[in-house]
Amino acid sequence: MKIEVFCEDLAGLKAGAVVIFNEKGKVAIRGLANEINRAIDGKISDLIESEEFDSAQDSFDYFFTFDKYHIPRIGLAGYDMKEEATLNPIRSAAARAVKTLRAKKIKKVALIVPTVKGWEMPDVSRAVMEGALLGLYRFEKYLSESNKKKLSSLILVGEGKDKRTLEKAVLLGEMESSGVRLARDVGNEPSNVLTPVNFANIVRKMMNKVNVNCDVLDHNDIKKEGLGLLQGVAQGSDEPPRMAVMSYKAGKKYPTVGLVGKGITFDSGGIVIKPDYSGLFDMKRDMAGAAAVLGVMYIVGQLRPKINVVAALPMAENMPSGKSFKPGDILISYSGKSVEIFHTDAEGRLIMADAMSYLQEKYPVDYLVDVATLTGAVVRTAGPSLVGLFGNDSRLLERIRKSGVQAGEETMDFPLYPGYKKRVKSHFADVKNLSYKGPSAITSGLFLEQFVNEGVKWAHLDIASIGTQTGEGTYRTRGATGGGVLLLTNLLLGMAK
Ligand code: BES
Ligand code: ZN
Ligand code: ZN
Repeated sequence: MKIEVFCEDLAGLKAGAVVIFNEKGKVAIRGLANEINRAIDGKISDLIESEEFDSAQDSFDYFFTFDKYHIPRIGLAGYDMKEEATLNPIRSAAARAVKTLRAKKIKKVALIVPTVKGWEMPDVSRAVMEGALLGLYRFEKYLSESNKKKLSSLILVGEGKDKRTLEKAVLLGEMESSGVRLARDVGNEPSNVLTPVNFANIVRKMMNKVNVNCDVLDHNDIKKEGLGLLQGVAQGSDEPPRMAVMSYKAGKKYPTVGLVGKGITFDSGGIVIKPDYSGLFDMKRDMAGAAAVLGVMYIVGQLRPKINVVAALPMAENMPSGKSFKPGDILISYSGKSVEIFHTDAEGRLIMADAMSYLQEKYPVDYLVDVATLTGAVVRTAGPSLVGLFGNDSRLLERIRKSGVQAGEETMDFPLYPGYKKRVKSHFADVKNLSYKGPSAITSGLFLEQFVNEGVKWAHLDIASIGTQTGEGTYRTRGATGGGVLLLTNLLLGMAK
């Protein structure tokens, strides 16, 4: 994809279509959009006033200019800010516009960055870029015939005085999108291809590309290091586990953030196999947390922010077999705590706990943020748009909430209610991986909390809600969404300031 910024005289702009954003209920066409409007004798404002074009969210119409204007098509992308706290209406409208134009075989599209009340120009430009690039995403690797309709060039159009700022914002949007697209790519791979071994190889390869240090622990290392929970979850599968450990160093004077992402490449539920088929179908994406962290590290490697970031991705397949771990088993975690297994389908918290302990042991992490498709309960209570948010430090949580708004991935607070702590206590081991039924989102958080070291500021993001999508949508596309990448990137960039 070729991406350009254009801030010169519109007479020099060349494209198959130019898109103007228009807010629902607003007739006023301002700035550059109005220049085009005037050049075609006010036809755009006439159209908007005629109510034939109502500017509803995600509406998109275009018309031909014939010989009235040097660009052959003008598109009108409607958006509706309503009570929206985020720029998602813009991301979504941009996606709808470029997707529609691509379907019409238009190869080069110019988008005029709109002015949005309450938001700065760079944020809006970044959102337009994210919306367009993420909306155009397709996973076509396994189709014998890939879609021939390709849009190959995007131009973001702004005022002359804004050129520098616009260029920076567009570049940021482009890099962020590359991380989200990578997370979607691995998320959409089927589990017969994306085994822990292959996943780890992809991580290593991508980290090499952007100069981020990456080590992979193989099955022997995992046993030798005493990562007993990761080993326990993996033992029922013929696919051996891996753990990828990444580190990006900006310098000693900066704080260190540790990221951990759940990398279950397929979650059958284990020996207590998941009961219904619909639940199983999406379980190849039970590595969406690891995919998100991979995407973030890919962005970090390109942006090189002033903050240290280390990450661990535990990878395993949770399968039933004669070798599987079983309810009632007691496993010894990396931290030394013994864990009684109540349910083999609560495997995510087990591999996450070991990876969290490992990262805290090996690196001086000030902050620890873990990301996982951990519970169906979060899908039911927060899904499909909100990320479940837990943590032990109010300032970190507030930063995450703000990053969520910035990223268009908002959060919903869950309490680490001390009254439920006894639910993860066991009579025969130090901890239990589940209580019977009950508030399972909260108890999963309480379980992980036991593996956070003293003094570490920790947050847990349950992305089971936003990791997968069934419909095509607009900028979040069918299948793996890459959810969490934008939120975490905003968090790290905010901390690096
Ligand atoms: N991978 C699932 C959680 C999940 C559910 C992710 C739906 C995405 C969509 C997790 O490992 C799991 O099975 N959780 C169980 C835990 C239960 C046994 C306490 C759940 O939430 O039902
Ligand atoms: Zn499970
Ligand atoms: Zn799982």
